[in-house]
Amino acid sequence: MLKATGKIWHNGKLIPWDDAKIHVLSHVVSYGSSVFEGVRVYETEHGSAIFRGADHARRLLDSAKIYRMDARLSLAELSKGMTDVVRESGLASCYIRPIVLRGYGDVGVLARDNPIDTYIACWEWGKYLGEEALAHGVDVCISSWTRIAPNTLPALAKAGANYMNSQLIRMEADVNGYAEGIALDDAGYVSEGSGENIFVIRDGKLLTPPIGASVLPGITRDSVVKIAGQLGIPVVETIIPRELLYIADEVFFSGTAAEVTPIRSVDRITVGGGRRGPITERIQKRFFDIVSGKAKDEFGWLTLVSPVKTPEPVGV
Ligand SMILES: Cc1ncc(COP(=O)(O)O)c(C=O)c1O
Repeated sequence: MLKATGKIWHNGKLIPWDDAKIHVLSHVVSYGSSVFEGVRVYETEHGSAIFRGADHARRLLDSAKIYRMDARLSLAELSKGMTDVVRESGLASCYIRPIVLRGYGDVGVLARDNPIDTYIACWEWGKYLGEEALAHGVDVCISSWTRIAPNTLPALAKAGANYMNSQLIRMEADVNGYAEGIALDDAGYVSEGSGENIFVIRDGKLLTPPIGASVLPGITRDSVVKIAGQLGIPVVETIIPRELLYIADEVFFSGTAAEVTPIRSVDRITVGGGRRGPITERIQKRFFDIVSGKAKDEFGWLTLVSPVKTPEPVGV
């Protein structure tokens, strides 16, 4: 159960957590008209740091644009909003959730004049697939559900409605005893997990489906590609047939929630050695070293959240 944490940012103002409510007849409730983000804040020795906040803000505005939602907000305003809620929360590490939604007004599908509201909240959050998963890997299956097809719901937008598809994938995997499901795209090639991008390693090369394979253009995906470049590991964006997962040397997920999580089996077929592989481990280590501030932030991915208020002078 989510715990009330600090304040929530609403269209530029911080409001009490319990006041961030919407009417049941708001457009978003019936029609799923929202776009959102998930952003992590890591504790570093220099203080709390937002991971790639500006890139998330940009994807949020891109998602809103695709759905003709004018949030009337700049990248800078959104970035400041994220910093403000984290600072208010007093949390050293957390998860930030910015949401843009079509609000209360007309109840029809078009609802052109309904307000567009933006909220940003944050809360404490641990490892999505568990600590154990990061070290030992997870067992996953290919979903019987296809990922949203081109020209149905746009995959480049991180829209609330897309997660109806994600829920089907994740729930089916769960009831069948898997940690996660991997959806194939409309053409039958590997797309992504319900909330993660996927990478396959074969003969020292890192392969990942292209953005045309109905994937969300993940910010962690991009980070993995950049880290691999730095480590001299070749990366190829290519369509991936399902069976390549079975015969891969290593497979892993990337995502804000999953971070870099190894996959040790697909459809009960053991991948490689059935544990985190050496290339996955190198990439994962580099990723965690960067986000924790242990390694130099060469890509400029971390934005420090400075302390809330200057401490009261003492002894006067
Ligand atoms: C469907 C889906 N794919 C991929 C990702 C990974 O994207 P990111 O690394 O930006 O979190 C997410 C998470 O947001 C997602 O929900």
